Amino acid sequence: PAPTEYQAENATISQGVVESNHAGFTGTGFVNYDNVVGSYVEFAVTAAQAGNATVVLRFANGTTANRPMDITVNGVLVSDELAFPATGAWTTWSTATVTVPLNAGANVIRTTSTTAGGGPNLDRISVA
Ligand code: GCU
Repeated sequence: PAPTEYQAENATISQGVVESNHAGFTGTGFVNYDNVVGSYVEFAVTAAQAGNATVVLRFANGTTANRPMDITVNGVLVSDELAFPATGAWTTWSTATVTVPLNAGANVIRTTSTTAGGGPNLDRISVA
């Protein structure tokens, strides 16, 4: 089946703001994480059946430094400091991919910054 897309601007945001000032995003904007450790975006993801899913995170990082994030699923850490490297400009979008275990039905995927720079700008996740 086609991936299901979840826009960051529609997710639950802690210490971040929705913006649209850097072109190339999908939907109506992206999330600019606050430049602090622990800022996060949390997605409510529904799965038809239990099993591993491929999550593609679309982001931009206009700095020269990595903006790593922890990826948790239903409260369990599944990717420790996943890299979100520099993309060259805030208008240049790239993807990071992680495989995660989902339950049948409702799931919570949280993407939390782990360095003082905060997360990258996050456009959306796609789940397949
Ligand atoms: C700049 C940029 C933002 C970005 C921020 C950051 O202010 O315009 O889109 O989120 O840097 O460093 O996180």
